[in-house]
Amino acid sequence: MKIDFKGQVALVTGATRGIGKQIAEDLEKAGAKVLLTGTDKTLIEKLNKQAKAKKKKKQYYCVDFTNDSSVSVFLQQIENVPRIDVCVNNAGINNLDFVEDSKEKDWDDILAVNLKGPYLLTRLLARKMKKNRYGRIINISSIMSIVSRPKRSIYSTTKAGIVGFTKAVSNELAGHRILVNAVSPGIIITDLTRKNLTDKERRSLARQIPAGRLGVPSEISSVVLFLASKLNTYLTGKNIVVDGGFIDI
Ligand SMILES: NC(=O)c1ccc[n+]([C@@H]2O[C@H](COP(=O)([O-])OP(=O)(O)OC[C@H]3O[C@@H](n4cnc5c(N)ncnc54)[C@H](OP(=O)(O)O)[C@@H]3O)[C@@H](O)[C@H]2O)c1
Repeated sequence: MKIDFKGQVALVTGATRGIGKQIAEDLEKAGAKVLLTGTDKTLIEKLNKQAKAKKKKKQYYCVDFTNDSSVSVFLQQIENVPRIDVCVNNAGINNLDFVEDSKEKDWDDILAVNLKGPYLLTRLLARKMKKNRYGRIINISSIMSIVSRPKRSIYSTTKAGIVGFTKAVSNELAGHRILVNAVSPGIIITDLTRKNLTDKERRSLARQIPAGRLGVPSEISSVVLFLASKLNTYLTGKNIVVDGGFIDI
C-alpha cells in the first residue's frame, strides 16, 4: 500500500507556515499538484517565482479570510480551476482573551478564518467534486473542539463548529464519493503555540501528555495524507484526534 497523489490537485489553506506548510510539502512529495494559500502578497509573489523557476507543480494564492474582497478574488480563482481532488482547510487563528475582555472584532476575525473560510470553500468545491464524482475534504480542528482552557472561548467555538460542519457535510456528500473529516491536533510546535504558550507552559503541558512531549507538524500531516488519499474509502464524518494521548475521549 502506497500513498500516491499523482494526477491529483490538492488545495491547502494557510500553507506558508506550520502544519499547513508540512501538509503541502508532503502532498507535493506524494505527487500532487498543490494549490496553496498565504496572506502576505509579497511572499506569495516570491514563492510563485521560486516555484516557476524550479518547474514545480505548485501555485500560491494570496487570501486573507478576514477581508471580503480578498476572499471573493480568491474564490473566483479557485472557481476557474477545473478539478480539485483534495481540500485541506487548515488556515486558523487564535487571539487569547478572557470572554469579558474579548473584542467583537476578534469574534468576527476568528470566525471568518476558522469557520467561514472553510464553509465558503466547501460550498464551492462540493459542486466541483460532485461533478468529478470524487473528493476528500479535511478540516483542521483542534482538541479545543472537545476540551478547553481559559481565554479560548472564541477559538473553541470555531473548532467545535467546524466539527459539526464536517459531520453535516459528510452526510450530504458521502454518496458522491466525497469524504469529509476533521483532524484535531493536540499541542503541536508551530508559530501559533510559540505565540500562545510560554516555554514554561509548554514544558508543563509536555509532562501532562502521555507521549511525554508536544507534537510536530509531520505527525498531523501523516494522518491528513491518509484521509486525503485513495486509501481512505470508508472513513467520513469523523473528528480524528492526534494528541499523544493528551485528552480522554
Ligand atoms: N499548533 C497547534 O498546536 C495547533 C493545535 C490544534 C489545532 N491547530 C490548528 O492547526 C491549523 C494550523 O495551525 P498552525 O499552528 O500551523 O498555525 P500557524 O503556524 O500560525 O499558521 C497559520 C496559517 O494560517 C494562515 N492564516 C493566518 N491568518 C489568516 C487569514 N486571516 N486568512 C487566511 N489565512 C490565514 C497563515 O498565513 P500567513 O503565514 O500568511 O500569516 C498560516 O499559513 C490551525 O487551524 C490551528 O487552529 C494548531
